[in-house]
Amino acid sequence: MSPAKSTAVNTPDDKLHSERVLIVDFGSQVTQLIARRIRESGVYSEIHPFNTVTDDFIRAFAPKAVILSGGPASAGDIETPRAPDGLWQMGLPVLGICYGEMTMAQQLGGKVTASDHQEFGRTAVEVTGESALFDGVWKLGQTHQVWMSHGDRIDAIPDGFAPIAVTPTAPYAAIADEARRFYGVQFHPEVVHTPDGAKLLSNFTHVIAGCAGNWTMSAFKNDEIAKIREQVGKGRVICGLSGGVDSSVVAALLHEAIGDQLTCVFVDTGVMREGESDQVVKLFRDHYNIPLIHRDAADLFLGKLDGVADPEKKRKIIGATFIDVFEEEAAKIDGATFLAQGTLYPDVIESVSFTGGPSVTIKSHHNVGGLPERMKLKLVEPLRELFKDEVRVLGRELGLPAEMVNRHPFPGPGLAIRLPGGVTAEKVKILRKADTIYLEEIRKAGLYDEIWQAFAVLLPVQTVGVMGDARTYEYVLALRAVTSTDGMTADSYPFTHDFLTQTSGRIINEVRGINRVVYDVTSKPPGTIEWE
Ligand code: XMP
Repeated sequence: MSPAKSTAVNTPDDKLHSERVLIVDFGSQVTQLIARRIRESGVYSEIHPFNTVTDDFIRAFAPKAVILSGGPASAGDIETPRAPDGLWQMGLPVLGICYGEMTMAQQLGGKVTASDHQEFGRTAVEVTGESALFDGVWKLGQTHQVWMSHGDRIDAIPDGFAPIAVTPTAPYAAIADEARRFYGVQFHPEVVHTPDGAKLLSNFTHVIAGCAGNWTMSAFKNDEIAKIREQVGKGRVICGLSGGVDSSVVAALLHEAIGDQLTCVFVDTGVMREGESDQVVKLFRDHYNIPLIHRDAADLFLGKLDGVADPEKKRKIIGATFIDVFEEEAAKIDGATFLAQGTLYPDVIESVSFTGGPSVTIKSHHNVGGLPERMKLKLVEPLRELFKDEVRVLGRELGLPAEMVNRHPFPGPGLAIRLPGGVTAEKVKILRKADTIYLEEIRKAGLYDEIWQAFAVLLPVQTVGVMGDARTYEYVLALRAVTSTDGMTADSYPFTHDFLTQTSGRIINEVRGINRVVYDVTSKPPGTIEWE
């Protein structure tokens, strides 16, 4: 495989980024979790696809340590993905996880036997050797739970290595060459099913690689404020607010950096949740005193959506209308040269493609892509280096209210994609009321922060019911709540029966137009989180 080119998101020149861990991605589904755990340990990390990581790239990146991720490849494949050969002579600590352990063992002269199927599961490992990786966490002779992946098998470890943890079927569940600071684990320390995993990764960055832990959101904030000031100078910046966490954090950060050189634009699409517009205006105009243009475009959006049932068409209409309205409002701001956007690190990470084929579009997410070119604006993207959980910490650091920072994600096309069949002002009103009651009940039960996202969907189906002595013929409401770490996969939230009956009772009693409530228990995959 010929090396492609990769560009580091940041340079090692300042204190915040001088301690950095390079994560070489071999295509595991959970590589991002490695980066998040490393950052939680206080060390900046970036993910780069294995076929872009050359010896020169590593030298320029100047990491304090390197982690090789897991991945779907097998040592038996004709062309196995590898770490660049120069890595082993650079004197850097290296941790190989799962496939990363296999390639490390193979590249350093061990023997790996291929297997064409992988299996995952909870397993207990027994600690058989002392190691800096286990420092203060695991002791010799103890057993501990890990999330193991069984794929290829190491038959012989390279010279200099010793096993430090085993299972009855995996004699090299963890291996170490303490002198060269090379470590391999067959299990996944980055997932929550390995309860001590984060501590082991922290040992790797702190005890083994000697990092002090400069990466904190308070340091990031100060660093980013200086950068924004340098980039923007005396220029004017426009920031689109959506009511969500990312754009709110961008606005608060920019305000702290450049004061009233920032103007925010908030477009009310008419398909937002109850009270959302008021909250945005109150917080940013009244509390922060940020110049804010508030455009109520509900009629325009609802007019364009009239009679449209196809989910993709709805998305496209909302996206295009949003851009038109935003552009119109932004044109009123004299001398604006920059547009601020809440792009996050997961949007920037290049993904490893093993098939080389294009990925299938399941849903076209609505965003303001294309806007900067059209309006000839330069982009300010102060969250480009951050994961969502870091954005929340930064939001707290900036003093944003907890209800805002901990908010569930809300899609750009809003309630329109929670109204299968077609959007009308009347249906939006019914759905909004039901959604508000549902979320009130969730908060009252203390479950809001346990749930990744919860919302209601008003179905285009009417059923017969009885209320008092009268027959009703009204809509069905579906409730959805999921747990997830990144929205890519999700499980339905296991509410108690009591909670569901109580919530259903309140909705049917308080919302005219709904006489039946159902709960969606589909996971993702095969379902998606939203219904459209
Ligand atoms: P799905 O439904 O694809 O959703 O499983 C995954 C996450 O993405 C959100 N979502 C969107 N966000 N524009 C957005 O900004 C969209 O068009 C859109 N569609 C889905 C969804 O709410 C969930 O958090």
